[in-house]
Amino acid sequence: MNVQKIISEMTLEEKAQLCSGSNFWFTQNIDRLGVPAVMMTDGPCGLRKQTMNADHLGMNESVKAISYPTGSCVACSFDRELIRRSGEALGEECQAEDVAVLLGPAVNIKRSPLCGRNFEYFSEDPFLAGEMAAAYIQGVQSKSIGTSLKHFAGNSQELRRMTSDSVIDERTLREIYLPAFETAVKEAKPWTVMCSYNKLNGEFASESHRLLTEILRDEWGFEGAVVSDWGAVNERPAGVAAGLDLEMPGPGELSTKKILKAVESGALSEEAVTLAAQRVLELIYKYLGNRTEGVTFDYEGHHEMARRMAAESMVLLKNQDSVLPISKEKTVAFIGQFAQRPRFQGGGSSHVNSYKVTGAVEAAKGLNITYAPGFSEDGITADETLAVEAEQAAKSADCAVVFIGLPEAWESEGFDRSHLRLPECQEKLVERVAAVQPNTVVVVHCGGAIEMPWLESAKAVLYAYLGGEAVGGATVDVLFGDVNPSGKLAETFPVQLEDNPSYLYYFGEGDRVEYREGVFVGYRYYDKKKQRVLFPFGHGLSYTRFEYSGLTLDRTEMQDTDSLQVSVKVKNIGNVAGKEIVQLYVGDDESTVKRPLRELKGFEKVELAPGEEKAVTFSLGKRAFAYYNTQISDWHVESGEFTIYVGPSSRDLPCCAKVRVESTQPIRKMFSLNSTIGDLMADPRGQQIMGQMMQGAGMGDLSKAGGDIMGAEAMLAMVKDMPLRNIISMGSLFSGQSIDPESIQALIDGMNA
Ligand code: BGC
Repeated sequence: MNVQKIISEMTLEEKAQLCSGSNFWFTQNIDRLGVPAVMMTDGPCGLRKQTMNADHLGMNESVKAISYPTGSCVACSFDRELIRRSGEALGEECQAEDVAVLLGPAVNIKRSPLCGRNFEYFSEDPFLAGEMAAAYIQGVQSKSIGTSLKHFAGNSQELRRMTSDSVIDERTLREIYLPAFETAVKEAKPWTVMCSYNKLNGEFASESHRLLTEILRDEWGFEGAVVSDWGAVNERPAGVAAGLDLEMPGPGELSTKKILKAVESGALSEEAVTLAAQRVLELIYKYLGNRTEGVTFDYEGHHEMARRMAAESMVLLKNQDSVLPISKEKTVAFIGQFAQRPRFQGGGSSHVNSYKVTGAVEAAKGLNITYAPGFSEDGITADETLAVEAEQAAKSADCAVVFIGLPEAWESEGFDRSHLRLPECQEKLVERVAAVQPNTVVVVHCGGAIEMPWLESAKAVLYAYLGGEAVGGATVDVLFGDVNPSGKLAETFPVQLEDNPSYLYYFGEGDRVEYREGVFVGYRYYDKKKQRVLFPFGHGLSYTRFEYSGLTLDRTEMQDTDSLQVSVKVKNIGNVAGKEIVQLYVGDDESTVKRPLRELKGFEKVELAPGEEKAVTFSLGKRAFAYYNTQISDWHVESGEFTIYVGPSSRDLPCCAKVRVESTQPIRKMFSLNSTIGDLMADPRGQQIMGQMMQGAGMGDLSKAGGDIMGAEAMLAMVKDMPLRNIISMGSLFSGQSIDPESIQALIDGMNA
């Protein structure tokens, strides 16, 4: 289709109309020119195609579709290939349902475990989130269906999400809140990006030229269309000027009028409207040009895929005395409502009308299972009769599995949690069951981290997250050893909410939300503070054991423009086959800026038969060593020594090696009268000049001057922090000879030349 030709035939009004949808889910059709409307729909972990009453809060019916594990769950698989394949399955479903754009993936960073939408988001780590998002997009788009990378950007809480202002300093934005978007845009080229509701540093994301044009398009090379989150438009003409192409939902009659008026008054250029309309047209025809009619998909096959994804993603947090896997010969009491009716998806716009939901009780048919609901259906109200019955069931079995989780009413888009506890009746049930049954296993269903005051009582904990409609089958697969668990946490579980770095500032004051913890989000904070956590980022157990050895770097010195090849050997030293997620972190040992101790810069998932050993390799480029330097508005590597850490979790890194990196872009320091003596001495030229000058002024033996009174070391430490202007008076103090201001200025000019 010749988009340019259509554009040339369009009136300004038609172009303006194309800048918003025709209804809740469709783009605008222009019948005069034969431009049809195409559909967008949620996303991310299943289709929510509404054919009747529409809404963006997941309230009204949608067509039956497969509900896959949510983002927070699948991120724990650390498995790019798995996510790509799930994207393909979703893409097929979109083709079958004639949906042009699937509204996902959601890649916002988990700043606090309280965020109501954490279940949709991948991680607290931008590298992991970016890799997962890119794989998802590649999968969906391989089926000629568009994706919408969301919510761009700085949208890490639900409270006042449509008016709040995320105040994020530039370095933190670049290092933590933008890179997942950047990776996904550069590696996977999403057809659309969805701007978020919130303001970023005082400006609505939907009106931010910097975000939507300068960073997204000019820096990262995005070529698709920017779509607003549903209702995120504040002033439409400002949005068009900023680079927001499509306002959703429609019809945007008022917006069209405003656009026309703004063009008429000269406040908005006609070119900007044309460009937005052109991008919407390109989107429409990109879909239609590759549309495959009559696609059907295998619901059962996709349900099975959802089961495999959940089994590959759930995380075995604890497994004392190898209580898991449970032998199929044993009698097992399944306890807790969620064993029958699992919590498997979150509330809000991602809510899917599931094809069929399998609970663990149903999936365990044929095994020696008894079932006791344990607590009332809402998951919140205690019921003594049910609790007593659960104790009885636990006592008379060989082992007990207690299924607990956050009630639906406590976790959803649209609001945040206020604490990290589960309902008291569920926490107490774990304790009561464990008191009568030493082999008590706990399965947890929820979208994010929780506190676990009952942890000591449980022999094993399997974190199933919100594992999609087939989670029951996946849980049984793992509990009884048909699948060896291999998921690892994509977020840190703090001991208590108050330990979280954003705790004092999260939610902000009114609309102003300052991200004061800066780059120290998640493990970046806990590690630097040497803080005890409940479970660290990257943690997850297996039914086998892995041994790491032979970490080698292909060089010990490099320039920041080189790439470093890292290789490590991983061996399965247990008796069963298993998968290991090998994690690589980089730390800057000599950094002069405040940086995390180490950051995730690589991961690979490998499958190993018992006794098998494989070499895993990584390639690290400049970004693996860099921090964002606001002085040069670019990524910068400081010269110095770095440590490469490899291992099974962020807190278990048995292999380390050092590499010296030389910067090809040293940053020039400018000096003034208020630079300190220490600043000057840090520069070899400065050291030399300083030495000569001191001698000249009879201050050569500066250290001795204070030697008797305060000791040489202290004297030097103090002098180091004096500004250069103080040398003028210091000279006369120590030697009676003053240093004239002109020679100090000459020194500064010389250094700056
Ligand atoms: C959500 C988006 C979603 C949209 C459409 C909004 O409320 O923030 O993630 O895609 O609704 O349902």
